Amino acid sequence: PRHFAIVPAAGSGSRFGAEKPKQYLSLLGRPLIFHTLAALVACPDIDRVWVVLAPDDSEWGRYDWSELGAKLETVRSGGATRAESVANGLQAAAMVAAEDDWVLVHDAARPCLSADMLAALFHELADDPVGGILAVPVADTLKRADASQRVAATEPRDGLWQAQTPQMFRYGRLVEALEKCSAVTDEAGAIEALGLPPKLVRGDTTNLKVTYPADLALAAMILRGRK
Ligand code: CTP
Ligand code: MG
Repeated sequence: PRHFAIVPAAGSGSRFGAEKPKQYLSLLGRPLIFHTLAALVACPDIDRVWVVLAPDDSEWGRYDWSELGAKLETVRSGGATRAESVANGLQAAAMVAAEDDWVLVHDAARPCLSADMLAALFHELADDPVGGILAVPVADTLKRADASQRVAATEPRDGLWQAQTPQMFRYGRLVEALEKCSAVTDEAGAIEALGLPPKLVRGDTTNLKVTYPADLALAAMILRGRK
């Protein structure tokens, strides 16, 4: 089977609160999403990468993406939710992808994906019947809040992981999963709703999602440290 990537990039970055969507903010002199896409197209096992833009995106066209090569395709079919954007991206891939090809869904907002992380994912999931996701064990102590924002309980963090992306599943099954269950915040959630257990592949905390301004500064440090 082949491997394809879908990159949902149709969010507005409301928590970040910048003047434009965070995927286009400058990171080491490039739009943030450039780094995300560069990591994916550099992977020899990934045949094609679909970037899902918002229909009214006015930023993508401002930049020259030719450096990233011919694997890149854009579709302007972003939806109201991330799951919808991913489902629309999968639809665009339908002409190329076979049922048992692998799809890696990766957030545009995770620019620090590395070749090592991709290699771990491919290695751990090569013969896997379900597929899986990069994730890291929860590091902080977890508190459950009551209605007045006081601690109702301390939750044991044993066995709790933070989900990251890429999330890698078979094309046909992922389409089916998202059709049946679109009220999810990641692809694994939809696969779980089919009764299947995705594998947790240990990733790295440097694969952070840029959500708030401090994350952008951290991403810059991480990428600079690798060069
Ligand atoms: N995304 C998308 N379509 C949406 C919402 C999100 O393609 N309707 C994408 C974002 O562009 C991002 C990824 O999904 O690459 C993860 O979402 P998130 O970090 O929540 O980004 P935003 O939704 O843009 O940020 P916020 O929730 O703060 O508005
Ligand atoms: Mg969001």
